Amino acid sequence: MPAPFILSPSLLSSDFGRLADELAALEGAGLRWVHLDVMDGLFVPNITFGPPIIAAMRRRSKLYFDTHLMIERPERYLAAFREAGSDLICVHAEATVHLERAVSEIRRLGAAPGVALNPATPLSQVEYLLPQLEMVLVMTVNPGFGGQSFIPFCLDKVKDLAAMRRERDLSFRIQVDGGVSPDNTAALVAAGADVLVSGSAFFGHPPYKERLDVFQAAAATSPT
Ligand code: DX5
Ligand code: ZN
Repeated sequence: MPAPFILSPSLLSSDFGRLADELAALEGAGLRWVHLDVMDGLFVPNITFGPPIIAAMRRRSKLYFDTHLMIERPERYLAAFREAGSDLICVHAEATVHLERAVSEIRRLGAAPGVALNPATPLSQVEYLLPQLEMVLVMTVNPGFGGQSFIPFCLDKVKDLAAMRRERDLSFRIQVDGGVSPDNTAALVAAGADVLVSGSAFFGHPPYKERLDVFQAAAATSPT
């Protein structure tokens, strides 16, 4: 039995000129989630896309839209992302002064709330919020670009977060994002990650069905 985990391909590494085709190819390959990296040029140096593009993709896809907001003061845009069709909305703890308010607002809007932590941000930033969250995103690179190398100490952070989840009998998902590949999949799943985001190591190796099989085979070698 392969270890149960969700692969959420990061569209950042797809062909932006063929988004509808890419989404259809993901669905055809058996993927259920897609990771949407929204960057504002302030919180991170890069700029990607916003609600209008997500709304256009929503009209063409039934995938679960896992939306990673790398934007300053995300509370300004939560309703817009929800209306565009985001199923899960993940905000960075470092990007807002009022994190609890943002999380409550995401839930009120009918989306699943997540909080992302940069590599150097301690888990204590989110510990009191854990019962309200559907997901915690442990960034395993500094956000902003695809194709970076996994930061090794982040594996311990995933283990520590999984221990908190066990001790408190909570059920939020743990997502990892950045430098994820079949090479570190087994270690991440063993550490407690349930949702693996992969950009370059996924889209760079078509066909997508075969690549999903490679990740699943890698996860199946995990000791848990
Ligand atoms: C980084 C983004 C990631 C990125 C991952 O800021 O949040 O989702 O696309 O890309 P890879 O898998 O190439 O590190
Ligand atoms: Zn991301």
